[in-house]
Amino acid sequence: MLVSGIPMHRFKDVDPRQDARQKIEAIAPVVGCILDTATGLGYTAIEAARTADRVVTVEIEPLVLEVARLNPWSQALFENPKITQVVGDVYDEIQAFEDHSFTRVIHDPPTFSLAGELYSGAFYRQLFRVLRRGGRLFHYVGDLESRTGYTIARGVGRRLREAGFRRVVCHPRVFGLVAYK
Ligand SMILES: C[S@@+](CC[C@H](N)C(=O)[O-])C[C@H]1O[C@@H](n2cnc3c(N)ncnc32)[C@H](O)[C@@H]1O
Repeated sequence: MLVSGIPMHRFKDVDPRQDARQKIEAIAPVVGCILDTATGLGYTAIEAARTADRVVTVEIEPLVLEVARLNPWSQALFENPKITQVVGDVYDEIQAFEDHSFTRVIHDPPTFSLAGELYSGAFYRQLFRVLRRGGRLFHYVGDLESRTGYTIARGVGRRLREAGFRRVVCHPRVFGLVAYK
């Protein structure tokens, strides 16, 4: 699926399911209550729900969920009782979640140029607030070995530390960072 011409999932050297698994593995063990900030076709939510007690997943665009309904690989999103869907803007919806209510956060937003607010210090402070002590955040940023990806990751890492995360580790194989509270 493309969002403004940009593929929603990686498909070079990895298929979308493997990619979702690798994102989840980066913050293993994925147990307790998980926040998935951007549902998309639901692959990360579905993978997280294999081991977690509960997954809350937020999607701003109802049309994306309509496509997911038609997609055979997304069916668990609608059938797994451990998954709760929220339709809305996670930038606003996150304010309603209680402090320390999630053990893990999966943050797989659209690219920086399409959703800059989801890479902002203000949003990272909310992610920090809703995470439990000892919690972990996976943040997709793009290819860390490209010049753009590296520059974005550097800014993301700095803002995550400013938001309170004590350690931020690069995971180039999964195009993301893991931050520890
Ligand atoms: C990269 S995709 C997520 C892929 C997903 N992790 C999966 O496994 O299929 C990003 C998704 O975030 C959604 N999105 C964009 N801005 C959002 C926002 N402010 N709040 C919630 N969802 C948003 C887009 O519509 C898109 O479906």
